[in-house]
Amino acid sequence: MKFKHFTATRRSPHLGGFIDDIDLSQPLSQEAVSEIRSALLEFGVLFFRKQSISESDHLRFAAYFGELDEPHPVFDCKDEDPRLTVIESKGRAGDSEHQWHTDVTYQEAPSMGSILIARKIPGAGGDTLFASMYAAYDKLSKPIRNLLHELTAQHSIERGWGTALRLKPGGEQRVQKLKEAFPLMTHPVLRTHPETGRTSLYVNEYYTQRINELSELESDALLRLLFRHSQLPDFQIRHTWQTGDIAFWDNRCTQHYASHDYGAEHRLMNRVTIVGDRPFYNPPSFEKAA
Ligand code: SIN
Repeated sequence: MKFKHFTATRRSPHLGGFIDDIDLSQPLSQEAVSEIRSALLEFGVLFFRKQSISESDHLRFAAYFGELDEPHPVFDCKDEDPRLTVIESKGRAGDSEHQWHTDVTYQEAPSMGSILIARKIPGAGGDTLFASMYAAYDKLSKPIRNLLHELTAQHSIERGWGTALRLKPGGEQRVQKLKEAFPLMTHPVLRTHPETGRTSLYVNEYYTQRINELSELESDALLRLLFRHSQLPDFQIRHTWQTGDIAFWDNRCTQHYASHDYGAEHRLMNRVTIVGDRPFYNPPSFEKAA
C-alpha cells in the first residue's frame, strides 16, 4: 500500500505491514504520523526494519500517537525514563512474553498500542508472533458469535504473573500488592475497535480467567475453545528480528507471543506503550438483527 511518506508491504493476509523507507530517528511531520496511524489501523502491526534510533527517539516516536503509559507494574524499566520498559532474557525464559496475550488487559484501560525495538537478539530464534483478533472473530461460526455477544470476562494480573512471581523471593507479597493495585477487571468478550468500528475477539489465555455469565464448567470449556481458536496459525504473522527492528502493534485487536527457543542466549528489547481506552462492545447492526 503506497502512502505519501512510505510504502507498507503486506506479507500475511490478516495483519502485518512492513515499512522500510522511513527514518524514525528524525522528527516526523503531522502528515507522516497520520499516515502511520492509518497504516496501523489497516495492518494491526507495523514492522519498521533496521532502524537506528536512540531511547529518546523511541519515546518521541511513541508520543506522536498519544500519552505514554505509566511504568509497567512488573517488567524492569530504564532508570533514565521508567516509561521505557526493559524486556530481557538471559539464561532463562522470560516470565510472560512466551504466552499468547494482549498487553495489560487486567487494567481498566489497557494500552492502545506498544512499540517494541530489538536491541540485542540471539543468533537464531527469539521471533515474535502476532495474531489478528479481527480474523479470529470473523472465522467463528455464527452460533458461537451469537453466544459471545452478551458475555463479559474477568481479566486477572495474578493469572498472568502469579506463578512466575511466586517463584522469586518475596513473590507472594508482590502478588498480593499487584492484586490490590489491579483488582479483577471485567471486559466484554467481543470488543469494538474505537477507530475502525470492527469487532474483535477479546479474551487471551494469559490474563482471562472466567466468563461472568456462565457456570465454572461452561466458562472453562468456552474459554478453552476460544483460546485454541485465537491461537490458530491462520490468523498469524511471525517476525524474525534483526537488531534495530521496531514492531508497533495495535493492542486493541491483536495478540502476540515471544518465542523462547534460544536457550541461554541474550535477548534484549525495549518497549514503550501508549495509553488506551476502556474496551466496549457495540454489536454490528446486522448481528443485532440476527
Ligand atoms: C511483549 O510481550 O510485549 C514482548 C514481546 C517480545 O519480547 O517479543
